[in-house]
Amino acid sequence: METWILILCSTLISMFLIPFLSLHLKAKKLPPGPINIPIISGFLWLRKSFTELEPAIRNLKALYGPIITVQIGSQPSIFISSRSLAHKALVQNGAIFADRPPALATTKIFSSNQHEINSAVYGPTWRLLRRNLTSEILHPSRLKSYNGTRKWVLDILANRLTKSNGVKVIDHFQYAMFSMLVLMCFGDKLDEKQINQIQYLQRPQLLSNGRFNILNFWPSVTKIVWKKWWMEFLQHRKYQEEVLIPLIRARKEVKQNKSEDYVLSYVDTLWDLELPNEKRKLTEDEIISLCTEFMNAGVDTTTTALQWIMANIVKYPTVQERLLAEIKGVLVETKDEEVKEEVLPKMPYLQAVILEGLRRHPPAHLLSPHAVTHDIILDGYMVPKNGTVNFLVADMGWDPEVWENPMDFKPERFLNKEGEEFDITGSKEIKMMPFGAGRRICPGIGLALLNLKYFVANLVWKFEWKGIEDVDLTEKQEFTMVMKNPLKVRISPRVMK
Ligand code: HEM
Ligand SMILES: *[C@@H]1O[C@H](CO)[C@@H](O)[C@H](O)[C@H]1NC(C)=O
Ligand SMILES: *[C@@H]1O[C@H](CO)[C@@H](O)[C@H](O)[C@H]1NC(C)=O
Ligand SMILES: *[C@@H]1O[C@H](CO)[C@@H](O)[C@H](O)[C@H]1NC(C)=O
Ligand SMILES: *[C@@H]1O[C@H](CO)[C@@H](O)[C@H](O)[C@H]1NC(C)=O
Repeated sequence: METWILILCSTLISMFLIPFLSLHLKAKKLPPGPINIPIISGFLWLRKSFTELEPAIRNLKALYGPIITVQIGSQPSIFISSRSLAHKALVQNGAIFADRPPALATTKIFSSNQHEINSAVYGPTWRLLRRNLTSEILHPSRLKSYNGTRKWVLDILANRLTKSNGVKVIDHFQYAMFSMLVLMCFGDKLDEKQINQIQYLQRPQLLSNGRFNILNFWPSVTKIVWKKWWMEFLQHRKYQEEVLIPLIRARKEVKQNKSEDYVLSYVDTLWDLELPNEKRKLTEDEIISLCTEFMNAGVDTTTTALQWIMANIVKYPTVQERLLAEIKGVLVETKDEEVKEEVLPKMPYLQAVILEGLRRHPPAHLLSPHAVTHDIILDGYMVPKNGTVNFLVADMGWDPEVWENPMDFKPERFLNKEGEEFDITGSKEIKMMPFGAGRRICPGIGLALLNLKYFVANLVWKFEWKGIEDVDLTEKQEFTMVMKNPLKVRISPRVMK
């Protein structure tokens, strides 16, 4: 019944607005798209879950071309699916396309009013937060110093996999990545119970893209109509505060004491930052948002990628054999018992497997919505400041113009004779962009690739991987694009010689 009221309201209002809006839009010549009945179609699109959104956009692409407009919510959403247009926008006009739209009502709460890297508008606050992250915690030399953490996590993971042989692996991958990011964020090794608790607290935030999304349509109305959901949603933020604030405060003391085994953590870098616009330090609330962002951005993406890559390794035994041969070759030389991260650069086939995994199964099929800093013409069409700009990541990596038989899993395509490294940042040309491109490109790219290489190499080296049933590569949209039927394997320790 509540939905019914909302639809009635929309109908009345849109009848009043149609003549005005369609005139206006025609004059500006937005990219083509389905007929727009303001608010009604916005509402209908907003109700579509992400699962339905991507195929719907793909159908529209066949009709209207590589740049289209769809009315989602109250503003026009532009969808770009060609590599060259993405390059024109994100790289050649990088500064204009680096903005973000105003935060949705739910995002506003979880991001402390956009004091977070991903949701921050393009400006001095974003620049400060992002630069500090990339030059401190994610700096290549700092990443190296976390080698002990990675080894610790690898041991936990190997242990868990051995104990629970023959079941889904995704939960163990997830726990491993989560432990690592929690440690990088809060510095201390937390116990399993604490880690599970934080992990639980993160879930609803991820879901704010899905289930809570509907709350963002006309918040002033949904706050009345779906009051219970709003309460539930706000309650989750409260829980987050209750669990994370003690961790954050404890860390402040550790930082001041600076014992000899002190390792810098992400929280430590946040206390002294001074916001350029507001001329003040970050509040605890904002620090919570930045910490949860750090964990959210890093865990599910990497876990998803790891699962897809291992799934293909299980599905195609020749890939596993070739990988094993490469690892053996390197370890014979170094005489180590496991793959240390220093030797990863000596493994081109491993690198190719990771890249092929990210191309064929990008964890994010769409970039976070971008916005332009001012109205601009792209490919002859107006991209309006008050719209969102979305990029179809998966379609770019599957473009048959660049990739022969794009749906096949063929790591060899990344092994070129000259030994030239594939440019995953797309600075000269975008051939795929699992991490985005341009100024908003994922700052965690180095950490993500290092983690994937380190874990894939060691998992293949330590265990022989076999599927229990046929590996099914069907996708399902959650926070990231996951396997609909999670990977189930039987593993046996390899006899080391
Ligand atoms: C395989 C793993 C990962 C993938 C596929 C991935 C992918 C992405 C993508 C597609 C974006 C959006 C770019 C855009 O909007 O243009 C993004 C943004 C971001 N990622 Fe990642 N990411 C991964 C891992 C990580 C890790 C490990 C971290 C950090 C710990 C991280 C932190 C971030 C942050 C902070 C942003 C927001 C950047 C901004 O708006 O300026 N990501 N990532
Ligand atoms: C978009 O912005 C223009 C000004 O650039 C404004 O006139 C128009 O009303 C806005 N449209 C919507 C749907 O907010
Ligand atoms: C981490 O790297 C340092 C310096 O390169 C090295 O001494 C140490 O043994 C490494 N630790 C592990 C667990 O690999
Ligand atoms: C920091 O030092 C103070 C005084 O030496 C001590 O009481 C406190 O327990 C220390 N805190 C931590 C977290 O090590
Ligand atoms: C990051 O923030 C810390 C704390 O304010 C500061 O000491 C450091 O210089 C900053 N780094 C950069 C590159 O701005």
